[in-house]
Amino acid sequence: MNSYEIIEHKFDVVVVGAGGSGLRASIGMAEKGLKTACISKVFPTRSHTVAAQGGIGAALGNMGEDNWLWHMYDTVKGSDWLGDQDAIEYLCSNAEKAVIELENYGMPFSRTKEGKIYQRPFGGHLTKNGEGPPAHRACAAADKTGHALLHTLYQQSLKHKVRFFVEFFVIDLLMDEENNCRGVLAWCLEDGTMHKFLAHQTVLATGGHGRTFFSSTSAHICTGDGNAMSLRAGLPLSDMEFIQFHPTGIYGVGVLITEGARGEGGYLTNSKEERFMEKYAPNAKDLASRDVVSRAITIEIGNGRGCGENKDFILLHLEHLDKRIIEKRLPGVIENVRSFLNIDATKEPIPVVPTVHYNMGGIPTNFKTEVLNPSENNPEKICEGLMSVGEAACVSVHGANRLGTNSLIDLLVFGKAASETALEKIKLNTNHNKLSNDVIDKIIERFDHFRFSKGKLKTGIIRNNMQKIMQKYCSVFRSQELISKGIKELEEVEDSLKHLNVEDKSLIFNTDLVDAFELDNLMIQSKATLYSALYRKESRGAHAREDYNKRDDKNWLVHSLVRIDNNKNISMNTRQVNLNTLSNHTQTIQPKVRIY
Ligand code: FUM
Repeated sequence: MNSYEIIEHKFDVVVVGAGGSGLRASIGMAEKGLKTACISKVFPTRSHTVAAQGGIGAALGNMGEDNWLWHMYDTVKGSDWLGDQDAIEYLCSNAEKAVIELENYGMPFSRTKEGKIYQRPFGGHLTKNGEGPPAHRACAAADKTGHALLHTLYQQSLKHKVRFFVEFFVIDLLMDEENNCRGVLAWCLEDGTMHKFLAHQTVLATGGHGRTFFSSTSAHICTGDGNAMSLRAGLPLSDMEFIQFHPTGIYGVGVLITEGARGEGGYLTNSKEERFMEKYAPNAKDLASRDVVSRAITIEIGNGRGCGENKDFILLHLEHLDKRIIEKRLPGVIENVRSFLNIDATKEPIPVVPTVHYNMGGIPTNFKTEVLNPSENNPEKICEGLMSVGEAACVSVHGANRLGTNSLIDLLVFGKAASETALEKIKLNTNHNKLSNDVIDKIIERFDHFRFSKGKLKTGIIRNNMQKIMQKYCSVFRSQELISKGIKELEEVEDSLKHLNVEDKSLIFNTDLVDAFELDNLMIQSKATLYSALYRKESRGAHAREDYNKRDDKNWLVHSLVRIDNNKNISMNTRQVNLNTLSNHTQTIQPKVRIY
């Protein structure tokens, strides 16, 4: 084994990831006097939150009647009842406060004539417990909401003097003998040094793993590094089968066209120029939830009603809308469609297809953001020292299907919750426990394994093989046969990792080696996804099984849990969904048939 000089740091909290959730958590922690480090593999404002477009969900009621209880109802229904209702209550009841706080931080929201925050309709958000017209609930900064939000939070983090470690790649968690977390080991990409971060609490805010798939709206950095670290630490991931396909990715490109486009009045048609959503969701139509719209598009294409030469896309129409409104409210859509397709969206319809967009599953946590490591005797058992927020976490407010705009509000509300939990748990000025050297040695051993791999296969080849398998066998519709084939092929590709070639052996800005680590992280999550999809024998939310095409509350109103041991053995288990609310402000929303 190579010997590396390891630089030691001691913090109260280490936050891994500097997207919306990581920054909001770091701000809260620094503000409360906790010594906080925020580690990120990219410069904070390059995190994937920057790509969020349409809005942040909060029932401000600026442009029509609304309240947080309706938001809660829609979120529970959107989740196909798999969301934990204590966490959903926490999310929705804190949403308005979180958006106003963001406004006070300086977020440049779009405005109504009266100067209030502009709010547009979004899929699955209705009024009057699903019985009323669409709610105007998405608080928007044109169609660049994530960009505005991330920059606002970054500025606040500078104000609160968060200590950043930028372009540091976290390799693994430091777990002690009791399997509690004591920090992380990270590699500084700029100068090649190794860093041991000891922390009383480590917060994984590492985002989703959209890049397990070939066609995804997620940035290339979305490799779910925290999820993979959790699996390697023997911790479970929850609800990994629930992959969200956004209905409107640009055909052949994968870039997102915001649901805000339909919120502003856009609609979808098939090759017969039919507004087919009327058939699948008679009430909400084009503004039904994403799983419903993505399935409808897939069925239309599957039944030969797709558009174009190959009948493999659907058209999104904006050309009937007032050009000035489109230019004002959706400038990014116009820009992207022009850049990628050379189409003027104010004049011509846009070819779109469902594209992987979000991971509902991830690291299981309670609503206080503490990571759960359920045991037979204690399903709510906590992994001490470890927390998780944002897309990395499965808290679970999104259940089987997330509503658009609920991701940005999740980042803010649970980012802040993490800072409150950390303050509650950490005794200031306490020493860090000793950690055996073996823990570091094992991580370095894995580091060297990849660094010195001398096979024939480049990372990009293996990654491509993996992504194509996920796209083919774990798409909008699944079946036992499809998933089983996917597992077989994926395990062959996983095996091909032993032929990996990392040409660059240096330690400074070695993107070849970073790619290899990210691929290894993606591979284990692809496997977790496929096995979870095989395990859940029902259709719920984004998980549509052709062989079990009904929701089955009797057997499957449970979260799935997947673990993968060091010998690559998989074990599956379940955890109860929490149907109880947090307070007596509201009552359990009882499962019923989900129709839009
Ligand atoms: O369509 C969108 O703008 C995406 C929003 C979201 O995923 O929340």
